[in-house]
Amino acid sequence: MSKKIVVIGSSNIDLIMQVERLPIPGETIMGGVFHQTFGGKGANQAVGAARSGGDVTFVSCLGDDSFADAIIESFKEDGINTKHILTKEKVATGTALIMIDQAGENCITVAPGANYELLPEHIDAIDSVLKEASFLLLQCEIHPATLSYIIDKAWELGIKTILNLAPARDLLPEQLAKLHLLIVNESEAAFLLKSPVENIEQAQAAAHQLATQVADSVIVTLGAKGAYAVTPSENFMLEAFKVKAVDTTAAGDVFCGALTTALVEEMSLKEAIRFASAASAVAVTRLGAQDSAPTRAEIEAMLNQ
Ligand code: RIB
Repeated sequence: MSKKIVVIGSSNIDLIMQVERLPIPGETIMGGVFHQTFGGKGANQAVGAARSGGDVTFVSCLGDDSFADAIIESFKEDGINTKHILTKEKVATGTALIMIDQAGENCITVAPGANYELLPEHIDAIDSVLKEASFLLLQCEIHPATLSYIIDKAWELGIKTILNLAPARDLLPEQLAKLHLLIVNESEAAFLLKSPVENIEQAQAAAHQLATQVADSVIVTLGAKGAYAVTPSENFMLEAFKVKAVDTTAAGDVFCGALTTALVEEMSLKEAIRFASAASAVAVTRLGAQDSAPTRAEIEAMLNQ
């Protein structure tokens, strides 16, 4: 089996403000600490997969601003294949404004910029890359039409697609049916099912309901409470590793990246979720998106703790 992972998705510059508490509308809060880092859910997944040991090709679209070269250089340092990253003239690289409070909770707004310039024609140009992939990992910060096109194409090519429905977005039933693995948190599950998912019982029920709609399996992530998975043959709950969170930004992205690495290595889904939970547990103890993604050695240290 091929060991290659293809991640297609967003790449952003993250402008981060650490504040004592998140403001209410109209309020100004002083005393923040500012950081600028590399982020974007797609890029964070790619870095999460690469640092955890995956052979990763990342497909994305950057702007023609001063950030693009530095972002690509940073991916290369992580051993990511960047040959299929485009740059689009007269468009800005995607940008995210992130506020983080003292408990590590965040709120994020995103200007997609160049991420929305990744088009179906670009996906057609990477057929040979897709055909070599063992798993394709996706999220929802690229243009909806492009995302739909990729899901359809991967299905036609017989590639196993993992979709993290973040940020939440409507998907047609025929596209849900083409997903090998759907990963959602409680609010994304609630969005898809149009019903509240506010406790573990509701999350488990949501996972079972969604599992009837996808090709294979569903994971509902529950933050510090762990994750619940439903596969065609079993369902199980795994607890999260106990750590003190500094910043939860990108914890879900790192989880998805590390999970994909583990699946490529033919770990069972249960083992893969444990591995991914260890990765995201390390990530939340650090500030930033890609900066927080752990190496394989750090994940193994958390697993052995
Ligand atoms: O999931 C975290 C990411 O969401 C950040 O890196 C930011 O860029 C936004 O896309």
